[in-house]
Amino acid sequence: MNPTIKNNDKEPVLSMKNVTKRIGSKAIVDRLSFDIHKGQIVGLLGPNGAGKTTTIRMIVGLIQMTEGDVIIQGNSIKNEFAKAISHIGAIIENPEFYPYMTGRDNLKQYQRMSAGVTDERIKEVVELVGLESAMNKKVKAYSLGMRQRLGIAQALLDRPSLLILDEPTNGLDPAGIREMRQYLQQIASTEGISILVSSHLLSEMELMCSRVIVIQQGKFVTERDLNEKIEQTQNISVALRVDDVERASLVAAKIEGAQIVQNIEKHNDLILSLPNELIPDVIARLGNEQIKIYRIIETKATLEDEFLKWTGGSRIA
Ligand SMILES: Nc1ncnc2c1ncn2[C@@H]1O[C@H](COP(=O)(O)OP(=O)(O)OP(=O)(O)O)[C@@H](O)[C@H]1O
Ligand SMILES: [Mg+2]
Repeated sequence: MNPTIKNNDKEPVLSMKNVTKRIGSKAIVDRLSFDIHKGQIVGLLGPNGAGKTTTIRMIVGLIQMTEGDVIIQGNSIKNEFAKAISHIGAIIENPEFYPYMTGRDNLKQYQRMSAGVTDERIKEVVELVGLESAMNKKVKAYSLGMRQRLGIAQALLDRPSLLILDEPTNGLDPAGIREMRQYLQQIASTEGISILVSSHLLSEMELMCSRVIVIQQGKFVTERDLNEKIEQTQNISVALRVDDVERASLVAAKIEGAQIVQNIEKHNDLILSLPNELIPDVIARLGNEQIKIYRIIETKATLEDEFLKWTGGSRIA
């Protein structure tokens, strides 16, 4: 069973302190420091080879770090390994199961090896990941998404404070990715736990995480709070698809507070950066000028451009 959680909610569940992995003369992970607090879903985002898996492997003690430390619920993974690791549930690469056994028997098998996991708990985690109807099926007949979810169910059995998943949506189809996202968000709120999830896809991280930490070549690049409410005064970026982008630009140019970001004439898109409350005004004025508006979409282009800038132009999405 887990030791009693001794920290209060203000203290981080996970604290990375200058975590470094050097192999030969190369720093694969270079002085990485960040904290994860209770209930947060944090994304570790970086292109292939950025050091995500290596970072996760160090957090769970699968490989030793060259320098630094990882503190989990106040326990050092270096000096208090058993205590620290007892707070973590993780899936690194693919979850391993007995393929010829049913999902239920696999979880029961885990229960036998781990003190304190009740039948009630098995039922709970199965419901959390939506696998009730698949419990009597053999795991070899599971789809990749079902297998991933069974892995998460198993990782949750011991009631960890932190769930760590290395690229959990790899290989899933769009529906599977969406489901995974919903389950993870549900788990974070129902169980009140924190989740660290890695990915090389910005678009996925944006939808799933409350915070994202960007790494590149083992180094911290930046972090972003993705739950930041758009303040009334803050500009947002919208793309307007119009029949005459030239004339639309002239109209937009006269509206105080709206900036033309770019106009991609071949797409007939006019991209504006403006406060939310100016949007009805822009639409009304374009309408007055008989300019047809076919579509208006909030664009995330700015954020994506920023990520590309941070990661030195390497493709991450
Ligand atoms: N045991 C090792 N020996 C030498 N180099 C290694 C070792 N393990 C990882 N690397 C290198 O470290 C870098 C980071 O690898 P890592 O697997 O952590 O990246 P990643 O961000 O998980 O990438 P991916 O998105 O492809 O999973 C890569 O350049 C990799 O080749
Ligand atoms: Mg990896």
